[in-house]
Amino acid sequence: MSESKYLEEILQFKREDLSSIAKSVIWKAPANIALIKYWGKKGNQLPINPSLSMSLSSSHTRTELQYRKAENNYGRITFKFNGEKHPAFEERVKAFIDKILPFFPFLKYMELFIYSKNNFPHSAGIASSASALSSLALCICSVEKQLKEEYSGTEDFLQKASYMARLGSGSAARSVYGHYVEWGASGNGTDDFATPLTSEVSENMEFLYDTVLITSSEPKKISSSQGHSLMNDHPYKEDRISQARINFSQLKETLKTGNFEKFTEIIENEALSLHALMLSSNPGFILINDASIKIMDRVRAYRQETGAQMAFTLDAGPNIHLLYPAEEKENIRNFIDNKLRGLCESGRTLNDFTGNGPEQPDKDQNL
Ligand code: PMV
Repeated sequence: MSESKYLEEILQFKREDLSSIAKSVIWKAPANIALIKYWGKKGNQLPINPSLSMSLSSSHTRTELQYRKAENNYGRITFKFNGEKHPAFEERVKAFIDKILPFFPFLKYMELFIYSKNNFPHSAGIASSASALSSLALCICSVEKQLKEEYSGTEDFLQKASYMARLGSGSAARSVYGHYVEWGASGNGTDDFATPLTSEVSENMEFLYDTVLITSSEPKKISSSQGHSLMNDHPYKEDRISQARINFSQLKETLKTGNFEKFTEIIENEALSLHALMLSSNPGFILINDASIKIMDRVRAYRQETGAQMAFTLDAGPNIHLLYPAEEKENIRNFIDNKLRGLCESGRTLNDFTGNGPEQPDKDQNL
């Protein structure tokens, strides 16, 4: 798709037709954990390599967007996060809206009240930008749908929401869908939205638990934007792109065959490679800590000893996501309690699992 498709399609509207009666839309969008990591950008927020993620079930952002015609010529944006003012996030949301304004010119004449809430704790090893920006993108696409008499189907709606979410945060493009989601496979500059995984998924891989082992809730020393930009001149950039492409196609094959051992090999290689790229950037930076390393070692030792099916992955932070199939639940939860919980900050973990994707909840359904 060309970058300009949605610009050509801009909804024709007259400012006078906008209603001054406030309306609202609500979307809940999930967090996702990348199994093949997007690391490095080109052009307008496009990935240099393919990525593949699993959307989570419990961890999500609920965004309510109330809108009405602005009294004056230009509208204002009021933003609250978890019921309170959050200047840093507000700035990011406003920058996001500015960025997508050319696609949704009516927003300029509207007063917007954006109320976002996360049901997972801040700094728990789950990026909140993906779920927050995808839920907001879905809300804005819904407003457009309400204003437009004719609207194309669900697939187009989700593609557009994914495209817009991407402009806020790359990984947010994937949070528009449930289950496994891919983004960036073409590599030729046309990867401007994510899509649900097109290849088959074997029954044993359809549902996985994800326990996040929280080793630190400190804010990140380096943002993911800074990390992405360090890939521009990274000495291993081209090799990383090739590695990610191979891991991506092998993971798709593995999800099809259901080989958990191979799944483990690929996703652990991805997680460790991501952090190796950080270590070898210029300047290099370290996001993992002592406890992250001990946990990864213990997971590998226990797996070697018992043959337990579990695989770790990490995003741009020190917290470990441990993935395992339903039949291992009891065994792995005991292992976590006995061997890993003591390494977590205040013993904190968070349990989640594969989710079905965004939903439009009723207004009275709180989180
Ligand atoms: O979407 P961003 O810019 O926050 O980047 C996300 C990067 C990783 O989480 C490390 C990998 C990924 O694919 O989600």
